[in-house]
Amino acid sequence: MEQKIINGAELAKKVKDEVKQEIETNNLNVCLAVIIVGDNPASRVYVNSKKKDCQEVGIESLEYALPENTTQEELLNLVDRLNNDPNVNGILVQLPLPKHIDENMVIEKISPLKDVDAFHAINVGKIMIGDYDFLPCTPAGCMELIKSTGVEISGKNAVVVGRSNIVGKPMAMLLLHENATVTICHSKTKNLPEICKTADILVAAVGIPNFINKDMVKEGAIVIDVGMNRLPDKKLCGDVDFNDVLDKVSKITPVPGGVGLMTRAILMKNTLTASKIQKN
Ligand code: GUN
Repeated sequence: MEQKIINGAELAKKVKDEVKQEIETNNLNVCLAVIIVGDNPASRVYVNSKKKDCQEVGIESLEYALPENTTQEELLNLVDRLNNDPNVNGILVQLPLPKHIDENMVIEKISPLKDVDAFHAINVGKIMIGDYDFLPCTPAGCMELIKSTGVEISGKNAVVVGRSNIVGKPMAMLLLHENATVTICHSKTKNLPEICKTADILVAAVGIPNFINKDMVKEGAIVIDVGMNRLPDKKLCGDVDFNDVLDKVSKITPVPGGVGLMTRAILMKNTLTASKIQKN
């Protein structure tokens, strides 16, 4: 059973060790600015984790914790200031933002060279054509987890459940770049279980606890669970009913201990990349 469970911690450590090594060897100064607006508890946890990762790999982290009632103009001004600060290599605005702020406007304000989330339209477009500096952290982490299984992706059926700009859409694109035959499913999809059952590689990014059960999974499938759902008892739970599908899958990522750790590791890698492209 153990070999079925993809070890996200091990892979994330490997990625972070490489980043740390490169920073140490070349004596680099790398700095990530993280902006958090309001007091969303999940966002607070994520931001704290990112700061801890920075410390681990030798990246300086700056936190800008702004109150809920921050105006859009104030936030845009801060982003502009960080864009123009040569000591800042990466800018991450933790999402979601309060409702009175236009998220797209803020993302588009971030310099594409400092956009370590790869959310800016320029970076999204570059990913689309396959010529990019940054990959979005969660989809890139998922790809590394899939590749770590040694499976041949080319020609396989991949199904992505969820179509967000952060995960679903770029995930589908990365699988396509590896020559998978990709289907994107969402809340309006008809026959969702049947489509999921065609997947050699199934990526669940819906945000509904235990949404994917054994009747939706093909025998021998690789299942990547992007879900991070907080249950009433505070336990973290994925989008996949792990125990229900375990017998059927060939490989599966656990929650916690899977995708989340890789998302964080890729952010460190992207911040290092940002510092390098800014030098050129
Ligand atoms: N909120 C949830 N996931 C993410 C992410 O990957 N980046 C940012 N900036 N906010 C998020």
